[in-house]
Amino acid sequence: MVKSIGFKKINLAVFISGKGSNLKNLIDFTLTKKSKFQIRFIISNNAKAKGLKFAKKFKIQKKIISFQNTRKAESQILKIIKKNKINLICLAGFMKILSKNFIKNFKGKIINIHPSLLPKYKGLNTHERVIKNKEKFSGCTVHFVNSKLDSGKIILQKKIKIKKNDTSKSLAKKILKQEHILYKKALNKIYSKL
Ligand code: GRF
Repeated sequence: MVKSIGFKKINLAVFISGKGSNLKNLIDFTLTKKSKFQIRFIISNNAKAKGLKFAKKFKIQKKIISFQNTRKAESQILKIIKKNKINLICLAGFMKILSKNFIKNFKGKIINIHPSLLPKYKGLNTHERVIKNKEKFSGCTVHFVNSKLDSGKIILQKKIKIKKNDTSKSLAKKILKQEHILYKKALNKIYSKL
């Protein structure tokens, strides 16, 4: 349990679909002494998401929610969000698209990390496309989620140089490392006035 340090912590829910390295990074961040954040819930649409192991390891509540029926999934999520007084939803490798209606209800309260220099390379397979197009730079972006894919207001961005011998794999690895740094900075930036 989180020790009280005199003020209420900001409650995060992290949504994942896969490995969960960004989730793990956020967990470590929230567990630092001075952190004003706590992860109250982990949600995954994928029962096989490797990142779910962190829920068990760090004793964080989790729920696997099937998105076969988006409306049903989102109403389940809504209940969790309300019950756990979630202040901010952090998408971290979450591969489902939330409905316009859901996003409208949480305007300014959902953020996402994307492995490109948005607005360039929205969507999937960013690194492959970046390498194919012989770009000189790529990077990652943390942004607010709006109803258009990867298009919400940018919170922070990190640019990195692509080397001649970089492949989509080596680029993904380099950028993921930067994602971990950027996500923490973005959270601090959003709540910098607290
Ligand atoms: C990250 O590159 C993220 O930007 C993208 O999916 C990947 C997820 O990685 N949306 P992980 O599950 O956090 O390790």
